[in-house]
Amino acid sequence: MKKRVFSNSIDVAQRLSAQILEWMNEDASRNFYIALSGGSTPAMLFQVWSEFYRTRFDWNRMFFYWVDERCVDPRHPDSNYGMAKKILFDHIPVPSKNVQRVFGEIDTDFEVNRYSRRLIESVPIKNGKPYFDLVLLGLGEDGHTASIFPDNLALIDSHDLCAVARHPKTGNERITITGPVIANAAHVVFFVTGDSKSEIVHKVVDDLPGASMLPASIIKAKCADCYFYLDQGAAKSIYFQ
Ligand code: 6PG
Repeated sequence: MKKRVFSNSIDVAQRLSAQILEWMNEDASRNFYIALSGGSTPAMLFQVWSEFYRTRFDWNRMFFYWVDERCVDPRHPDSNYGMAKKILFDHIPVPSKNVQRVFGEIDTDFEVNRYSRRLIESVPIKNGKPYFDLVLLGLGEDGHTASIFPDNLALIDSHDLCAVARHPKTGNERITITGPVIANAAHVVFFVTGDSKSEIVHKVVDDLPGASMLPASIIKAKCADCYFYLDQGAAKSIYFQ
């Protein structure tokens, strides 16, 4: 696991974007497959991409999927795709075929099967599973990541590619990719900012007591190349930056 700490969220987003460009350029002949998380943190990254990387990323080579999606209409304010569309996709020349959203608005069991098939059909396969170049994760204050919550650790080793999950507080349904798909990726990045995340970042990054029961900690340990991109607020309690 590698830690990258920068002064504020814009700096983190800028440096992470530069790292992504570097990974993309390792083999300019290949497409680049990214799975995006939702929540509020990625908004800064999408802003940087639409403003500063509009002509630097080769959008024709980038294929976008979702780590998880809330089971709502894409126009609903909670939609992860809706947020990405508003901040990013409406402002860049990415071909529509390159954006593979989760249909949060349809029957969840049907969509889990449809999205699983979509992943197998359209993402390169390695170890018998979809092989993303980059899975971009957030971190909840309860240690969840994707929509894998502490009360549903079975999703971390599920044989399924996608599953229906339920937020433990709101009860709202979500569709999430599972732990083995995340861990199969070439690169996994936890992008976490803000003072409010400092304690959970400390627990997960420094493997404090109790961390072994947290989805983010368990998944971190399964990834071949895992990064924590943090601002000073989120990193302020970790032992070594
Ligand atoms: C989601 C995310 C979820 C998120 C964390 C952090 O759909 O909500 O995928 O895992 O990454 O909850 O959310 P914030 O970035 O809003 O703190």
